[in-house]
Amino acid sequence: MKAIRINAFGGPEVMQIEEVATPVPQPDEILVKMYASGVNPADYVVRQGGNEILKPFLKLPLGLGLDGAGEIVETGVDVTGFKKGDKVYGIPNFLSGTYAEFIAAKASQFALMPNNVSFNEAGAIPSCALMAWNGLDLGKVGAAHRVLIHGAAGGIGSLAVQFAKAKGAYVIGTASAQNFEFLKQLGADEVFDYKDENFADLLRHIDVVFDASPVFNANARMIMARALNDSGRFVSVQLPYPFGEEFLAILAEKHAEAKMVRRELDVAQSLTEIAKLIEQGKVSVVISKVYPMEKAAEAHTELETKHVRGKIVLEIRKES
Ligand SMILES: NC(=O)c1ccc[n+]([C@@H]2O[C@H](COP(=O)([O-])OP(=O)(O)OC[C@H]3O[C@@H](n4cnc5c(N)ncnc54)[C@H](OP(=O)(O)O)[C@@H]3O)[C@@H](O)[C@H]2O)c1
Repeated sequence: MKAIRINAFGGPEVMQIEEVATPVPQPDEILVKMYASGVNPADYVVRQGGNEILKPFLKLPLGLGLDGAGEIVETGVDVTGFKKGDKVYGIPNFLSGTYAEFIAAKASQFALMPNNVSFNEAGAIPSCALMAWNGLDLGKVGAAHRVLIHGAAGGIGSLAVQFAKAKGAYVIGTASAQNFEFLKQLGADEVFDYKDENFADLLRHIDVVFDASPVFNANARMIMARALNDSGRFVSVQLPYPFGEEFLAILAEKHAEAKMVRRELDVAQSLTEIAKLIEQGKVSVVISKVYPMEKAAEAHTELETKHVRGKIVLEIRKES
């Protein structure tokens, strides 16, 4: 089977399509014939050699890709709840690589994909959706909370806006001006440009900040922390960028909490609940571009601009 692999760290050109053995599923695993893989920031970070957290785990050669969608072609003997032919989406074990024609993955990391989307749409969802889902859970987002979503037009942000609306929250999104209309269509109640010189004055009475920006910016963090209500929650997806002392002091004054998103909830159950929201039409998947597997380098180059709207997808094989 074909898979994208790297034999050296570096620019997009280090990705090569190679012929490798089709994996054999373990007793608790499913073998998935892949149709689509999401393209996520972690893919280019791994390709470049990793960050403080990832570096110790990266041993070449490596496959790339965190998540995706496909059809089950085989189930391990201990797998229950799935059968051959099921269309599934999920996240296999980290660093096992979804830019591949087949993957073997723990069944507990997958769910039936929404029945009203294509493989390309389903493949774009899992990792970003789980980050947004866990993040809003950590922020205890509920009806009528004022929730600020920073980086709201991106892969995680565009889903977080819709999940927060589905929970009944009042959603304030940040984006560049060209994405204002897009965020309003997703359901945002207010939108601000994070580059606006009056950004700090625009933010008021926030119960929960969900920082889903791909850019680490201490100043933006401070501004958003200052806008929090007493006992508010600040949740960030920027795991490799720890909270600083000054930032934590602002939160302490407000008896507010700061948390980093980790995937703490049950993956299969979360993906099943997310699928329901999509089937009910409460959440839609925004794909800005689909690239064929041979154009993975172009897909990475585009994502690395950090201004993609919604998601980029790598199409592993065409859906008939
Ligand atoms: N994707 C995952 O599954 C995953 C998992 C774990 C951690 N993370 C981390 O989460 C972060 C976001 O991931 P993602 O997949 O959502 O990234 P992404 O899709 O590449 O994010 C792109 C969005 O970021 C916005 N943006 C760019 N510069 C910004 C700035 N200075 N301030 C605020 N927003 C800015 C852009 O909005 P405009 O174009 O409107 O400016 C764009 O829509 C990354 O740091 C990533 O490493 C992601």
